[in-house]
Amino acid sequence: MAELHNDAHGATVAERAEARWVWIVGAIIVFLTGMLVYMSLHWAAMPPTRMETIDPGTLHLSGEFVEANLGSAREADGSVTVRLLGSQYAFTPQCVLVPRDTPVQIRGTSSDVVHGFSISNTNVNVMLAPGYISNFRTRFEKTGEHVMPCHEFCGIGHAAMWAHVKVVEPAEFDLAIKNGRASCVQ
Ligand code: CUA
Repeated sequence: MAELHNDAHGATVAERAEARWVWIVGAIIVFLTGMLVYMSLHWAAMPPTRMETIDPGTLHLSGEFVEANLGSAREADGSVTVRLLGSQYAFTPQCVLVPRDTPVQIRGTSSDVVHGFSISNTNVNVMLAPGYISNFRTRFEKTGEHVMPCHEFCGIGHAAMWAHVKVVEPAEFDLAIKNGRASCVQ
């Protein structure tokens, strides 16, 4: 009789423990689902952080993307900023010069439709949308040449739209700077 009582008691304890864990697991699932829904709505309701806009109609007249300002510039902190423009059907500059082993920030935009580019054998992969400035930070560890094709269909000349990236030693990069900007356009 006492044995039976103990068994019944043990079963109740086990049931209670099971019920408790059902609630704990349930609460974790509700929390994670809630977080997913909240983050999805939060991100869908706003543009990516620090999105910068620019008027594509006046790019060539004034501001950061006028022709004289395109190319690679050495910043006061030693890093390099590359400014480039995508247009049907070319990139400006056609040859981007960057120093090896240096933080590089790429800033680009489009003067017409959406373009994109990736730099071969690197992690660089950027979309260029008219009206927005795209930002990408990277570093090139080795000297050498890369190709930079447009990877977003932008019209009949899309397949012919590509540029070069040349990575050189920092000293060679500094020698190539003229009027504050460097490029490897011949
Ligand atoms: Cu530009 Cu495809």
